[in-house]
Amino acid sequence: MNSQLADSPFLLACRRRPVPRTPVWYMRQAGRSLPEYRKVRAGTAMLDACATPDLVVEITMQPVLRYGVDAAIFFSDIVVPLRAIGVDLDIKPGVGPVVADPIRDAAGVATLRPLEPDDVPYVSEAVASLVKELDRVPLIGFAGAPFTLASYLIEGGPSKNHDHTKAMMYGAPELWHALMDRLTTITLGFLRIQAEAGAAALQLFDSWVGAVEPDDYRTFVLPYTSRIFAGLADLDVPRIHFGVGTGELLGLLGEAGADVVGVDWRVPLDEAALRVGAGKALQGNLDPAVLLAPWEVVQERAAKVLERGRVAEGHVFNLGHGVLPGTDPDQLARLTEFVQSY
Ligand code: CP3
Repeated sequence: MNSQLADSPFLLACRRRPVPRTPVWYMRQAGRSLPEYRKVRAGTAMLDACATPDLVVEITMQPVLRYGVDAAIFFSDIVVPLRAIGVDLDIKPGVGPVVADPIRDAAGVATLRPLEPDDVPYVSEAVASLVKELDRVPLIGFAGAPFTLASYLIEGGPSKNHDHTKAMMYGAPELWHALMDRLTTITLGFLRIQAEAGAAALQLFDSWVGAVEPDDYRTFVLPYTSRIFAGLADLDVPRIHFGVGTGELLGLLGEAGADVVGVDWRVPLDEAALRVGAGKALQGNLDPAVLLAPWEVVQERAAKVLERGRVAEGHVFNLGHGVLPGTDPDQLARLTEFVQSY
């Protein structure tokens, strides 16, 4: 890693070192809120776009060029490694991932083999091109966490209550553990491939794990997220752990071994710092819906996030979840400037 990259505000904040200013990037910063994204994506299916390095590079660069954010996030999706090992799935616009044959028995679990670099050559290629093109801006690689991937695979698509997922977790714990074990291997493989191609940080998205209570997290999820973070320790890249609705799980998310814990908008950062405990940086946590309000409101709320974030040992400004498709890009441009000059 070049030294200018190591001194970037984003990587310094992740490592809980002093920063010249609070760094900022946004989950889903590339995507439907950007007219330039809608233009290049027109006529190409989401998963085809993810497998086309030139497109991946162009889309990943779009928010960096438009907003001057302090980190880029690799344009891909959490289901890309599953599709790459042969799971029959698609991403339906406005819906999300849809799986043709939901996994609910041992035979289904047995179809999930480890991910090899040769399964996703387009990922290594796009990451390597991006690292060159980004120059002084760190690239964040990412993967879906086992619980969130398990939910899509078991339910067959997006789910409000994760009924089938919990039915397996509570009713067939051996099957659950076998599934989580295989998904852990796949996730770890996907993250290592991105880091080895040059990603400067890695984020694990456990978007839907907030559906689980703490004791169950400890029994049914923590062994796997811990194995993932431990399996990345030798890479010397900051590891970020994020989920939605995880207020009661923040301590456990930290315990799993990440360097940075992502916080949704429901828990103020000063309170989150207490729950996560010492030795972690925090990322977050402006409610993405605030960006739909007039700029004065955004500014006031963003200042509050920045003030509360001072309590953390390191703070990376972000939204509490992804940019909403209806967001005006000019609001994000102003917010980026506001955070960077605060
Ligand atoms: O953050 C970024 O800008 C990087 C790209 C990224 C995408 N998906 C691109 C995408 C990332 C990090 C993801 C992760 C992802 N995918 C998560 C975890 C993050 C989160 O939001 O909680 C989840 C749960 C998924 C599954 C998924 N894929 C959903 C729910 C959707 C949206 C479906 C829809 O149309 O509303 C997708 C598709 C998807 N992934 C889009 C993008 C830009 C939209 C595709 C399009 O433009 O049609």
